[in-house]
Amino acid sequence: MTDSLHIICFSATGTTLKTAKAVAEGCGISNVRVHNLIGDAEAEAHIPKNGMALFAAPVYAGRIPPIMAERLKGFVGSDTPAMVVCVYGNRDYDDALLELKSIAERQGFLPVSAAAFIAQHSIFPQLAAGRPDAGDMEMMREFGRRSMALAADAQRVCATPFSVPGNYPYKEAKAIPLTPKTHGCDKCGACAKGCPVHAIDPENPSRTDAEKCISCAHCIHICPKHARRWGGLKYTLASRKFVKLFSERKEPFITYRG
Ligand SMILES: Cc1cc2nc3c(=O)[nH]c(=O)nc-3n(C[C@H](O)[C@H](O)[C@H](O)COP(=O)(O)O)c2cc1C
Repeated sequence: MTDSLHIICFSATGTTLKTAKAVAEGCGISNVRVHNLIGDAEAEAHIPKNGMALFAAPVYAGRIPPIMAERLKGFVGSDTPAMVVCVYGNRDYDDALLELKSIAERQGFLPVSAAAFIAQHSIFPQLAAGRPDAGDMEMMREFGRRSMALAADAQRVCATPFSVPGNYPYKEAKAIPLTPKTHGCDKCGACAKGCPVHAIDPENPSRTDAEKCISCAHCIHICPKHARRWGGLKYTLASRKFVKLFSERKEPFITYRG
C-alpha cells in the first residue's frame, strides 16, 4: 500500500512543478511532499518501498539540468516505485527522459512509468504558449492514476525490461549563451537570493555572472518588480529562429511498464 508521494523536481519557472502536481492529483495520495531542487535546502531524502517517487525534470538542451543531476544524488530509494517525467518547451526532449530514468534506477528506484509533457518554453515563451492546457492536464492526471495501479505491484511489473526514447552516450550538456537583462530594479535582492547557482551579485543585481548563469529564468519568474527579462540582439535572433523551427504543436509521450 503506497502511503506517501515524494515529488522530486527542479522547476525554475513553475511548469515542471505544475505538471508534477497534476500527476500527483491523479495519484490520489493525500500525503505529498515536494522537494523542489531549485533551492539547495531540499537536498536529500530516503524514500522507502511503501512510498512513491515522482521525478520531474525540465529539459535543458536535450538533457536534465546538470545541477539537478548533481542534487538528485541525495535522494535514495529501496526498490521504491517511481514515475519519471520530463517537461520540454516544444523543441525536443532528446536524451533527458533516458537520463532521468537512469539516475532514478541508480539511486534505488523502480520506474513503473515515464512521460514527456510539453509546457511553455521558459526562454522563448511563444513556443507552446499556454501549455500545459486542459487536455495536457487531463493526460497528466491519467498518467498518475495508471502509474499508481502499477506501483501496487511494482516488484512483478519491474521484472520486465523498460526502455524510453533517448541515446547513450547522451547529447553533450551545453550551456545556453543567454542571460536575463535588468531594467527598473530596486535592488531588493530577491533574484540574487533565489538564483540556484548564485550567479547574481546581491549588491548590484544587474550584474549576472554569465559563466555561472544556467539561463533557467528563475530570476525572471520571482522578481517582484518584473525587472528581469530576456532581451538583446542575440536573444531576438535566437527567438526568431526557434519560433520558425519549433512552433508546430507536439503531443505528450507516455509509456507504462509491463
Ligand atoms: C536553459 C534552458 C534550456 C532549454 N532547452 C530546451 C530543449 O532542449 N528542448 C525544449 O523543448 N525545451 C527546452 N527548454 C524549455 C524548458 O524545457 C521548458 O520551458 C520547461 O517547461 C521549463 O520548466 P520550468 O517552468 O519548470 O522551469 C529549455 C529551457 C531552458 C531554461
